[in-house]
Amino acid sequence: MRERKGIILAGGSGSRLFPITKGISKQLLPVFDKPMIYYPLTTLMEAGIRDVVVISNIDFLPLFENLLGDGSHFGININYLVQENPDGIAQAFLLAEKFIDGFPSALILGDNLFYGDKLHSQLLKSNSNSERSTIYTYRVKNPERYGVINFDSNFNIDNIEEKPQKPRSSYAITGLYFYDSKVVEKAKTLSPSSRGELEITDLNNLYIKDGLLDIENIGSGSAWFDTGTFESLHEASSYIRTMQNRQSLMIGCPEQVAWNNKWISDEDLYRLALPLTKSGYGNFLIELLN
Ligand code: TTP
Repeated sequence: MRERKGIILAGGSGSRLFPITKGISKQLLPVFDKPMIYYPLTTLMEAGIRDVVVISNIDFLPLFENLLGDGSHFGININYLVQENPDGIAQAFLLAEKFIDGFPSALILGDNLFYGDKLHSQLLKSNSNSERSTIYTYRVKNPERYGVINFDSNFNIDNIEEKPQKPRSSYAITGLYFYDSKVVEKAKTLSPSSRGELEITDLNNLYIKDGLLDIENIGSGSAWFDTGTFESLHEASSYIRTMQNRQSLMIGCPEQVAWNNKWISDEDLYRLALPLTKSGYGNFLIELLN
């Protein structure tokens, strides 16, 4: 199998979090006890993806490099690319053309957080199917804020409507997308929308038209957060805190996934844990070894 490439899109303007995000990237803000980008990075790693690029604006990109380095300590490769302006989510594929290099790819938004028992097997399935493309949906109360799936009478996917005034379903599109090796070709045919962006919804509608798009729904036992507002950021932090304290687990922990996947050894994990013991993060990693 040709190994899928992972893209974390971590630019944008973050204007719904102003003034916080005037001086720092949204995707570096804490979600309870970790930087936000740890969560989408961990999701890609759980899917089995080891070659990752982080895309952000020129001011913040060095901060991501400081945090994540070349990824070798997580047993993966991390590359970095600049997006000069937030010209749309689908632009990621044009920027990352060389990195993708004709392989299948997966894109995750840097402010999207996924968690759930069933999710791991869904991710492995999406990654293993390099001929098809998969988007992830989640049933929400306020679909008019999202891209929403319209189904035909046989419950087949008809198209995706961006922020519909009268949503025809409650299935919102989340920020996680797996594509076949044709995605760059397809992204090149897109034109900017009325708001001047290359829209991921337009790209997905091309895949739907070609009959190549599958849906994985994130069920009620799992959670999806888009942490772009004060409320949702706080809600995500509270959720992580509650889940971790109740079940003594760690959500969004790349070291743990690297170790589970046998991409790093026991000794590697121990070495990573030692400088992190004061915060408790390292103690959790050491406990794994016991
Ligand atoms: P949005 O939440 O749509 O935009 P934003 O983060 O700029 O926030 P705001 O609406 O508050 O101004 O973006 C979703 C994610 O995609 C987020 O992680 C930022 C990222 N993104 C980019 O990196 N580049 C882009 O061109 C766009 C549109 C989004």
